[in-house]
Amino acid sequence: MLAQRLIERKRDGGRIEPGEWRALVLAYAAGHVPDYQMAALLMAAFLRGLDRGETVALTEAMMASGLRLDLSHLRTPRVDKHSTGGVGDKVSLVLAPLIASLGVTVPMMSGRGLGHTGGTLDKLESIPGMRTDLTMRQSIVQLERIGCVLIGQTEEIAPADKKLYSLRSATSTVESIPLIASSIMSKKLAEDLTGLVLDVKRGSGSFMPDLERGLDLARTMIELGADHGCPVVALVTAMDRPLGRASGNALEVEEAIHALRGEGPPDLMRVTYALGAEMLQIAGVASSREAAWRDMEVAISSGRAAEKMREIIDAQGGNGGVVDDPSVLPQASACELYDAPRRGFVARVEPRAVGRGVVALGGGRQRLDDAVDPAVGFVITAKPGDWVEQGEPLATIFARDASGIETGRASLREAIAIAEEAEPPLPLVSHRVTVAGVEAYES
Ligand code: URA
Repeated sequence: MLAQRLIERKRDGGRIEPGEWRALVLAYAAGHVPDYQMAALLMAAFLRGLDRGETVALTEAMMASGLRLDLSHLRTPRVDKHSTGGVGDKVSLVLAPLIASLGVTVPMMSGRGLGHTGGTLDKLESIPGMRTDLTMRQSIVQLERIGCVLIGQTEEIAPADKKLYSLRSATSTVESIPLIASSIMSKKLAEDLTGLVLDVKRGSGSFMPDLERGLDLARTMIELGADHGCPVVALVTAMDRPLGRASGNALEVEEAIHALRGEGPPDLMRVTYALGAEMLQIAGVASSREAAWRDMEVAISSGRAAEKMREIIDAQGGNGGVVDDPSVLPQASACELYDAPRRGFVARVEPRAVGRGVVALGGGRQRLDDAVDPAVGFVITAKPGDWVEQGEPLATIFARDASGIETGRASLREAIAIAEEAEPPLPLVSHRVTVAGVEAYES
């Protein structure tokens, strides 16, 4: 009965009080409110919106549905990074060990790929033996011992959000700023962080292509963090082309390992260092962007960051030897070059088409419970603005068989446009958002 009254009120543009959000979310998590009523309420919330008080109440209710890490006994700062997701976005795989190697505790909780975007958990699970379903107790022990854990959302952390997110993905109610912000922050705040850095993607391949909506999302999450004593800083970064060269789970792990060894592609390194510098400053271990940048370069050139990655993988049951020899990763049985069909400038490498191509090869999922093939994907070396000759290799396709190669070829034909001229791509990092407002990112 409670749910029906709340649906009516939200449908008619009214407000749901904090106590009512709490009761509703807990009743839903316990199975006392059916999916059909919750779906109706979510659609009403999607269409009518939530005010700041409602967004805070929903976040707190989802957080309270599970356990909260208590890391207050650690003497180090605790910082995580969250990305709104994109294609080829393997930044977390580089950033977590890199920042942990510099004395910041990184309890990194990530998600799975959905639709055209990849997910860090799927990438990590392509490492033989790697487990991402650690319990809260195991996570705390690992954080005490090596300062970093790479996990997914378990039943212990914001279980109401987990159930609601599945329902939202099945009812087209994901793309609502208060619903997204409360979903992400309910998990992040449960990590007991002292700071959080957001990577808000903009451009055609992002989940929220419109800059203004991305900024709104950043502001909403920054406010939620501020309300809970967790400073949040956001950078707006480009997703009008894939990040780095590799798209596909094991291929991205391999590229991240190269990055940790100092051989990462320049665009990936730039976004990683920009976000890393924010993490180190919010943690209080670097006094300026320049100092943070230098510390990260040393952590990579000295091998410390790669060593931290090996420790994390070993600790989570994976084969840490992957750091020296990425060929232990699953390998695709078919692999072919994709050549430029004509000469000209690379005008576009459309991330959505690349991401959909990875899904078509079997490397991504349409539904949250689909299985993924870790080995398939693309390595695209062409970048917007490059001049290419006809027949020059632009990419390599990794597939299960010859028919997968044809599927990959069709995806790349759609994704890579060659023309007489090319528009300049979006700046890799364009804005910085804090509680004080939005500023242009000066590089
Ligand atoms: N990721 C989440 O965890 N929740 C959302 O609502 C969207 C993306």
